Amino acid sequence: MVRFLAVSSSSSGDSQSHETKSGNTAAIAVLAVIAILAVSALLVALSYYLYMRWKVKKTSQKAHKTQRLVSDSFTRPHQQNTAIETSAAQVFTYKQLQTATNNFNEANLIGHGGFGSVFRGMLADGKIAAIKQLDQASKQGDFEFRVEVDMLSKLHSPYLLGLIGYCADQDHRLLVYDYMSNGSLQEHLYSTGTPGSPPFLDWETRMRVALDSARGLEYLHELVNPPVIHRDFKSSNILLDDNFNAKVSDFGLAKLGSDKIGGLVSTRVLGTHGYVAPEYAMTGHLTTKSDVYSYGVVLLELLTGRVPVDMKRPSGQGVLVSWALPRLTDRKKLAEMVDPILEGQYAMKELIQVAAIAAMCVQPEADYRPLMTDVVQSLIPLVKNQKAAAKVVSTSDLQHQVVTFNSSSLDTGSSGACNH
Ligand SMILES: Nc1ncnc2c1ncn2[C@@H]1O[C@H](COP(=O)(O)OP(=O)(O)OP(=O)(O)O)[C@@H](O)[C@H]1O
Ligand SMILES: [Mg+2]
Repeated sequence: MVRFLAVSSSSSGDSQSHETKSGNTAAIAVLAVIAILAVSALLVALSYYLYMRWKVKKTSQKAHKTQRLVSDSFTRPHQQNTAIETSAAQVFTYKQLQTATNNFNEANLIGHGGFGSVFRGMLADGKIAAIKQLDQASKQGDFEFRVEVDMLSKLHSPYLLGLIGYCADQDHRLLVYDYMSNGSLQEHLYSTGTPGSPPFLDWETRMRVALDSARGLEYLHELVNPPVIHRDFKSSNILLDDNFNAKVSDFGLAKLGSDKIGGLVSTRVLGTHGYVAPEYAMTGHLTTKSDVYSYGVVLLELLTGRVPVDMKRPSGQGVLVSWALPRLTDRKKLAEMVDPILEGQYAMKELIQVAAIAAMCVQPEADYRPLMTDVVQSLIPLVKNQKAAAKVVSTSDLQHQVVTFNSSSLDTGSSGACNH
């Protein structure tokens, strides 16, 4: 019994020491897990810190490099030995532009738009230029203005208006462009028709203008990376050179002249009444498809000779898109809506083709609007004489001038040739 007790007491001691041992092992295991977790957390924190440091360093290096390239290109505009410098805009002093425009003489005023006045001027090298004095953008910071202009000056296409340079002297902000002797498409579409006023354009020229300007937008949307959204595509921003070749102007300018809040472009809708896509007007969400809508409005102007919004027109006709859209797919009504001055100049199948393009561009659903590349491809067959030089001729019966082509082989495929 004693032995039993002794045995039993010894076995109880063993079990106690066994319990203590397993208790210690568990504690060690818990401590080990905690230690491993702590070390891992430390390692994660350290790697995150190192990654962030690397990222910040890389970003600042990149920003520094960009800033250096941009400021180099602006401070040394006349040195032509690097790609950046050759593509950068020329820098003008305010004094130089004062001289070019005879102190911004009223006689040199070409027009006035939403951003300021445009003057005709002669630069020191004898070149004629259009000089735009910006009102709104003068509020913009110097560096910001230079970066934006530098970006715009790097976009080169035969279908975009060339930017010669800029001036950011003190508070002055001016842009210097190639001069386009035939002014804007708007002036020709809505000319008074009186002697000396801009001549009306015939069907062939209108198709050529439609194709050139589509190519301008195609370049901005599809050939530039990242794409540039025009934001203010309209008939006054399509300019015509000596031969009525069309060039798109003022791309990116809406952004340049816009209000900035904390460095971000405000969501205030920019653009011109009658040309702004419905989804952009409603949500402020801007995509290249907003430009496609505006392009469709211009195509409708070319077809109908009507301004996008005129509430003085008979009821239901005030807004061009709403009036035109149901007519574009109705053969009989389609012929009735065409600018009367174009009568006899086009084949019905050509008209149907242009109407179909316009209808696709102005449809309310942005995703279903075509890409500008598609528009270009659809218009190419309609422009038969792309290289022909246009000339201005007088019409005795219509009592105004009309631009037509200087080509005897011109085949309009229509019921009759140009009647002027
Ligand atoms: N490069 C140019 N060459 C010849 N004329 C030009 C040139 N740029 C502008 N113009 C003329 O000046 C007018 C005013 O142009 P501006 O761009 O300031 O105004 P807008 O196109 O009517 O409106 P927005 O300011 O919204 O673009 C144009 O309608 C055009 O006749
Ligand atoms: Mg303009």
